[in-house]
Parts: sequence; C-alpha cells; structure tokens
Amino acid sequence: MKKNRALIFKCGFCGHEEPKWLGRCPECGEWNSLVETAVSAAVLQRTEGDPKNRPRSLPLSSVDPQEGSRISSGLPELDRVLGGGIMKRSAVLLGGEPGIGKSTLLLQAAAAADTRGRVLYISGEESAGQLRMRADRLGLGPQSGRIEVCCTGALADITPILEAVKPVLVMADSAQTLHTDEAGPAPGTVNQMKFCSYELISWVKEHDAALFLAAHVTKDGLISGPKTLEHMVDTVLYFEQSENRGAQGDCRFLRAVKNRFGSVDEIGIFMMGEKGLSMASDPSLLFLVRREGTLPPGVATAAVLEGSRTLLVEIQVLTVPVKGSMSRVFSGSIDLPRVSRVAASLEKHLSLRLSDQDIYVNVAGGIRITEVGVELALAAALYSARTGLPLPGGTAIAGELSLTGELLPIRRLAGRIKTARGLGFNRFVGPSPASEGEGPGGLENAADIKSAVKILFAGEQKPQTPRTKAGSL
Ligand code: TYD
Ligand code: MG
Repeated sequence: MKKNRALIFKCGFCGHEEPKWLGRCPECGEWNSLVETAVSAAVLQRTEGDPKNRPRSLPLSSVDPQEGSRISSGLPELDRVLGGGIMKRSAVLLGGEPGIGKSTLLLQAAAAADTRGRVLYISGEESAGQLRMRADRLGLGPQSGRIEVCCTGALADITPILEAVKPVLVMADSAQTLHTDEAGPAPGTVNQMKFCSYELISWVKEHDAALFLAAHVTKDGLISGPKTLEHMVDTVLYFEQSENRGAQGDCRFLRAVKNRFGSVDEIGIFMMGEKGLSMASDPSLLFLVRREGTLPPGVATAAVLEGSRTLLVEIQVLTVPVKGSMSRVFSGSIDLPRVSRVAASLEKHLSLRLSDQDIYVNVAGGIRITEVGVELALAAALYSARTGLPLPGGTAIAGELSLTGELLPIRRLAGRIKTARGLGFNRFVGPSPASEGEGPGGLENAADIKSAVKILFAGEQKPQTPRTKAGSL
C-alpha cells in the first residue's frame, strides 16, 4: 500500500523538525517539546507524489502571461500598496493590532474585488451572524452575495470547504485561530499557525486563487507570531493607526514591508468611519492644518514624498529649556537621529543654541515621515520654534541637509512644487533643481541652510536671544 503519512518529531513551541526524538529542542531550547507528528498527506503528495506530476522546467516564453495577472481589490488604496492589485496565486499577510480594522478591510475587499468567481471568508473569530451584521453595517448589501462564509479555524473543516466552494479569493481571519491536530498537541502555538497557513497558501497557489491572511500583532509581540509567517507569503502588509486623528477624521495607514510584486514605498491611507474604511478624498491635504496668514511659531509645511505621491504635511516643533541634565528629543513622527542631526546643523551653521533645549516634534495627523526631503522644513520649524519668529503662510518647503549645511538636490522637485501649487501654496523654498529645466516657476532655491533661513524669514525681525557666542546670520 502506498504510504501517505510519515512521522517526524516537531517542537510544539517553535515548530522545529527533527527526524529523531530529542529531549530538548535544538532550536528554541525548550525541554520535552518534541512530539511525534504526522506529515500531512498533502505535503507528502507534493514531495513524493506521482513522478508524472512532478514539476518540470519549461521555456519561460511558453508561460501564459495571464498567470501573472492581477485583479483589482476594488479598494484603490489597497491596490496601490499591493503594487497594482491582487496578484493571482499570491498570499498576502495583513498584520495589525487588534481593532485596527483588518477584518473590516478584508470584508470590504471580499465584496468589492473584481473577481469572476466566489470569495471565501474564513473566520475563526466571529460568528456568521456577526459577519452578516458587519456586512450590513458596511452597506455591502447585494455585493456580498458572492461571499461564502465559514466560521471555523479547524483546518480539517476548512480544507473540504475550499474544495467544495473553489474560491478565487480566500480571506482567512485570523492566522492565530487556525489549528489542526497534525501540528502538535499545543493549540495556539506558532507551529499550529505556520502549519495551517502553509496549507492554505499551498491551496491557493495550486488553484489559481489568492489568499489574505489576517494576523494580530501587538506592540511588543511582533517577533513571536506573524513575523514567523513573513517568509512564507509573497506580500506582508501592516495596518497602523496614526497617533492623532487626521484633519479629516480617524486615519489609518497600510504599509507594505515585503512585496514580491511591487514596491514597498507606497502607503495606503484610509479613514475609518461609520460605514467602515473609506479612501481619503485628497490625501495630499490630510496632514495640513488650514491656517490663514502667518503660521504660529514652530510650524512649517513640508512637501514630502510618500511612495509615488506628494503629501503636504505640517511639522510642529516646541522647544523648552532642558529639565534634566541633558537635552532630549521627543519625536514619534520623524526619526530621532534625523531631528538631532538637523538641530546640530542649525546650532553649527546658524549659531542657534539648541543644546540647552528639550525638543518636541510632531507631524499633524500623526503620519511617520521617513523621506529625506523633510529636513529643510524641520530645520525651519526648529528655527521658528526657538526664535519665536513665525514662517509666512502659503509657503511649502522641501530639501535635504548635508552635515556641512548645504541643501542637497531631492527627488521629484518639480512634482512637489506642482502639487503644492495645486493646493494653493504660492511660495516654494527648496534646493536648486538637480537638472536644468526641472524647476518650474515659483521655486525660491537656496544653496545652504543659512540662505534658506534668510529667504524663509526675510520679512521677520532678527532673533534676539537664543544665539551661541560666535557667528551671526
Ligand atoms: P476590525 O476590523 O474588527 O479590527 P481587527 O479585525 O483588526 O481586530 O475593526 C474594529 C474597529 O473598527 C472597531 O473599533 C470598530 C471600528 N469600526 C468602525 O469604526 N466602523 C465600521 O464600520 C466598522 C465595521 C468598524
Ligand atoms: Mg478581526
């Protein structure tokens, strides 16, 4: 008789496999954790199946290009982060803290995705009735007609349902609720999650479908859980909430940290409202506080790139005399080393005393800014906060600072100026364009931080106090 099961010894905690029993897992060091485990029939078939069905090589030119085609999720911001839509035969891990909106996003995509076939929503967390209530609340109505729901986390129940429904899109909510006896006796372990996720991923790859796998992530628990699934999937998305409420409401960001089929630079911006997640009508404006006339001291508007779009964001800085023995920087939105470096640059090149100050930095709407082009606006906000001199309104700023105080050319300067113009900014202060002809009208360019500050604060009085001894503007 053909053997369709094999035995291995698997660690119930980390999932490490050994051909022989050992008293202690060599991977995680846990004692007595190796248990005799059957390798599933599906896995065996894949590895030992009929030689006729074994994978063979084939000329690349003979592969049907449709195999690599994408379908729209129906949610433009999700498509953007995925790199242009859902790739067939792909597996996407959607991580995020509980309550961030993973289930909402998956249900909305299940209803809106541009698929011809059926969508299977597997929920180990909610009952069918709860899913129905959520769908009604989201106003999915008739769109949800092709969604099949299956409320279990037991792999043994899920597999026959997959075979019966033959979905083209599978939503598994969540990885933590998946379980099977085949993956060892301890339920809820990383091993259970990995084993079951692998089975679902294999199923969609073999059946020309796509999988979204939701996974809870806690602030400190990134490593133990879903992180271990990252290498198994094609794309890893994390859903995050901004620290503050955006100017237009409750704003959430979707970021890719791994994407086999697209860039990881794009972010998706969603607003959570009464009827679930919606797209922000104009994300470029989301992080701006509309102000008339001169800005309050410590505020500057930066034109930064987030993936392929330009966002205008308000940088807010507060400086107060140090309370401890050393000055400290508090910033959740811009990296601390960047803030410290820009502050050091101002101290050195403009003789602006900051080392006796605690510096607080915030970006309106709570979006994290990692793009270098934010540095000049950050410098302007710091200068304004420390001197009390306000920046004029209607001015957008972009530029990278070198340690020597020069302004370096930045990517897509012309695009930033165009977006800022379109949003009603009449001045743009930045570096010289990298190439001739890149700078459309309206750019006031500066060579270094000193001349940029001069241009920006031209109409204001000279600061009185916070100078270091040497140098003047
Ligand atoms: P949910 O999708 O259940 O989060 P997750 O699956 O990541 O745990 O989102 C739940 C939160 O979203 C909850 O706090 C309620 C809120 N919410 C709305 O504000 N509006 C809505 O239409 C829905 C469905 C949820
Ligand atoms: Mg959920």
